[in-house]
Amino acid sequence: NLDRLLPILKAAPVVPVLIIEDFHTAVPLARALIAGGLTALEVTLRTPAALDCIRAIKGEVEGANVGAGTILNPKQFDEAVAAGSTFLVSPGASPKLIAHANGSPVPLLPGVATAGEAMTLLEEGYGAAKFFPAEQAGGANYIKALASPLPGLVFCPTGGVSLKNAHTYLSLPNIVCVGGSWVAPAAAVAAGDWAAITALAREAAALKGV
Ligand code: 3PG
Repeated sequence: NLDRLLPILKAAPVVPVLIIEDFHTAVPLARALIAGGLTALEVTLRTPAALDCIRAIKGEVEGANVGAGTILNPKQFDEAVAAGSTFLVSPGASPKLIAHANGSPVPLLPGVATAGEAMTLLEEGYGAAKFFPAEQAGGANYIKALASPLPGLVFCPTGGVSLKNAHTYLSLPNIVCVGGSWVAPAAAVAAGDWAAITALAREAAALKGV
């Protein structure tokens, strides 16, 4: 799982978290983000169009590593894999979902917010997790405190992360990347302002880790 996830998560400091309402915006949005240097894209399964968006990005956008987010159960896991997702993200880690993901060729980034949840994932052989909801759960100080007792896990904080606080997370030794929706504001997507989105992506791609 980790061997397949790390190259995807390490490709850029930020993974855009996308809630795509209009199917027709999926391909230009993905192209705009990739033009700015963000190649791993998380399309959340929160809209009816999400699976079609994943298929379209996978088929039409060169250089995209398109993943599916908000995977809550095995059915969504399988649908997202069938649509061509190269990675899967979930807000938490239910036993059913983890059992289902074991043995899948497509890697899962499950969510955690506590040391206990992180230990469960370590027991299952995971080396990377989403820290969610990052700012609300305690922010950079909180995840920093988990680095020493849990050296076997790296995290992708998501939830309330923005250009303002991303660098604080990225400077920590147990952070591999951050996720966030700020690089694809709904208004810019609706207006088709792809240049603005490329500019936001470029700014995010320039963030540096340790
Ligand atoms: C989410 O699941 O909605 C993500 O965590 C994105 O959060 P954000 O909108 O605060 O970036």
